[in-house]
Amino acid sequence: MPASKRIGLGIIGGGLMGKEVASAIARWCHLVDSPVRPELVSICSVPAETLTWFTDYFPSISQATTDYHELLANPKVDAVYCAVPHAMHERFYIDTIKAGKHLLGEKPFGIDQKANAAISKAIAENPKLVVRCSSEFPYFPAVQRMVEAWKAGKFGRVLEVEAGFLHSSDMDPNKPINWKRQVSQNGEYGCMGDLGMHVWHVPLRFGWFPKNVRAILSNIVPQRPDGKGGMAACDTWDNATLFCEIEQNGYTFPLTAKTQRIAPGQTDTWYLTIIGDRYSARFTTKKPRTLESMSYEPGGAQVWQSEDLGYASTYKTITGHIFEFGFSDAILQMLAAFFDQVAQGTAAELPFGCVSPTEASGTHAIFTAALASQKQGQVVSVKRG
Ligand SMILES: NC(=O)c1ccc[n+]([C@@H]2O[C@H](COP(=O)([O-])OP(=O)(O)OC[C@H]3O[C@@H](n4cnc5c(N)ncnc54)[C@H](O)[C@@H]3O)[C@@H](O)[C@H]2O)c1
Repeated sequence: MPASKRIGLGIIGGGLMGKEVASAIARWCHLVDSPVRPELVSICSVPAETLTWFTDYFPSISQATTDYHELLANPKVDAVYCAVPHAMHERFYIDTIKAGKHLLGEKPFGIDQKANAAISKAIAENPKLVVRCSSEFPYFPAVQRMVEAWKAGKFGRVLEVEAGFLHSSDMDPNKPINWKRQVSQNGEYGCMGDLGMHVWHVPLRFGWFPKNVRAILSNIVPQRPDGKGGMAACDTWDNATLFCEIEQNGYTFPLTAKTQRIAPGQTDTWYLTIIGDRYSARFTTKKPRTLESMSYEPGGAQVWQSEDLGYASTYKTITGHIFEFGFSDAILQMLAAFFDQVAQGTAAELPFGCVSPTEASGTHAIFTAALASQKQGQVVSVKRG
């Protein structure tokens, strides 16, 4: 067993994502030579019954509580993963930072731009803490190949970008409502707040902050069963298409960003297509191991090629190269990046770091402008918050 620095982890929010992250921590042995060893020592969730899954599976947990203040007061907790409804992000994240804990928060990192600005202020006042936002899809090997190509300047002049995250999970109008479909808990951004961080992580890392946006937002299912025999208002945006103008190196190009909850036939389709005049590349989670690309020299042939990459992960694992990479592997890689940042400090340049607070704020500027664009029916400038 390699010597590595032990980091006490507390999880706040024992739902879908709290469990996913706990499960990744449980298989930390999957990573080869990790400089850190996170240990799940504390769990906070409501109602109290939701704690049992964690205490049953994790003997390392010495504290299980329904009060997150108790978790934050625990000196054994060095870092926190927080996955709670969006309306709680501002209070929970700021309290975590003020308690001196490193934080991996969830998107949208504040229910709206005002909440995000308050979180950013707390981060600025505590510069030694590593505070990052979750976004796992860029850790798919094919996306990391696109990152390498971008770093090497391989694309030439970028002509067009398409990025998106499509779900069909809300196709059924009889699906009962939950907090994710209500503005009071999920926020006015709707599907943009839910899915948009995933879509913008790579574009913002590449410096593609839009000058302006024209957004078309749709609320397709305005009410849903409330689970008690009646109907409840479903007032969030279901689908969003954002047409953005990006300026880089003295020219502009279009970037189309789609976040859709009602996309027929799509279960969990994250995709990125970058078209350049020297190199183009595309990836979709529909073909999780495949990178499609085309190199072009003036006058030469234009041939798309398809390459199966296998398990070529950013952080080395015990899994052989020839096997497949999937969603839970991407979560493990994201956590490896977060804890690598904790081990090396905020200033360290990683192969591909988690979403930074500045990038998270960038998404709020984009979504706020998109809401204004929908309201006004016109193109709106995007201003950094
Ligand atoms: N990275 C991803 O792929 C991904 C996927 C889904 C959701 N998310 C994000 O994760 C966050 C949580 O989403 P989810 O799908 O896990 O939701 P969920 O509804 O499954 O779980 C939310 C959890 O919050 C807990 N909670 C509520 N109030 C609490 C309180 N006062 N104290 C402690 N815990 C409390 C609940 O117990 C519940 O377990 C959201 O920000 C969401 O956008 C991220």
